[in-house]
Amino acid sequence: MAIRIDGKALADKVKAQTAAAAKGLLRRPGLAVILVGNDPASRVYVTGKEKDCTACGFLSFEHALPEDTSQETLLGLIEELNRDPQVDGILCQLPLPRHLDEAAVLNAIARDKDVDCFHPYNVGRLMAGDPVFLPCTPAGVMEMLREYGIPVRGKRCVVLGRSNIVGKPMAMLLLQQDGTVTICHSRTPDLASLTRQADILVSAVGRVGLITADMVKEGAVVIDVAMNRNEAGKLCGDVDYSGVEPRASYITPVPGGVGPMTRAMLMKNILTAARHHQVRND
Ligand code: GUN
Repeated sequence: MAIRIDGKALADKVKAQTAAAAKGLLRRPGLAVILVGNDPASRVYVTGKEKDCTACGFLSFEHALPEDTSQETLLGLIEELNRDPQVDGILCQLPLPRHLDEAAVLNAIARDKDVDCFHPYNVGRLMAGDPVFLPCTPAGVMEMLREYGIPVRGKRCVVLGRSNIVGKPMAMLLLQQDGTVTICHSRTPDLASLTRQADILVSAVGRVGLITADMVKEGAVVIDVAMNRNEAGKLCGDVDYSGVEPRASYITPVPGGVGPMTRAMLMKNILTAARHHQVRND
């Protein structure tokens, strides 16, 4: 029987610590959230992030823009928020409508307000091992491993997925803690032969039932980053939880695992940004 890693409880603890630390600042940290279009999942995520801000005593400023917003309008808003002293962090919810240039938008966000850690400058700092902000989802996973006393040093880590948001930075954080890391993706042949070697298996693919018990080594730590809906419309990850759980030593549930941790780490990044701004401006 695996130990279930309780992401919700740990996220509550991280948020409580963040809220307590923010009380020591001269002014309340502020997050600007940009939401372009009407994607219902994005709406849910944005509302969740705004609630977390309130719970931490932060201000949040929502900018909901129509689907047909032009690149110029969006960049103009970002410029305004870059200059706004009440705004410590800027989060532009992805995915953007297809006519918008995502890379240009992420590049336009001031580096010191890039609480998602998506700007190439902050990605570079992370790669160099000297990060300012940590990418929220991978940082949430690392926080879970730390809290549950799961060592990374010398372990074989297999990451499924190579996205800029999760797979690539996840691999980097595991590497920085002396894991031996393999990144797998849609073109990886014989996936199971690699996943079976993993002491720590992180799946961020987005396919229901991808990870079955025969793909998991006895005693592995299984981290499910995905957020899918099964045929019944129920939230689930990539991992066949009931099949894999008896083989694993630790496992994260979906929901209630990595998701809440991502949101908690965002709050930590907003606090980091606010501290930097306070030192500079107040
Ligand atoms: N869309 C899915 N995940 C994220 C995230 O962490 N940040 C932003 N901005 N958009 C997302």
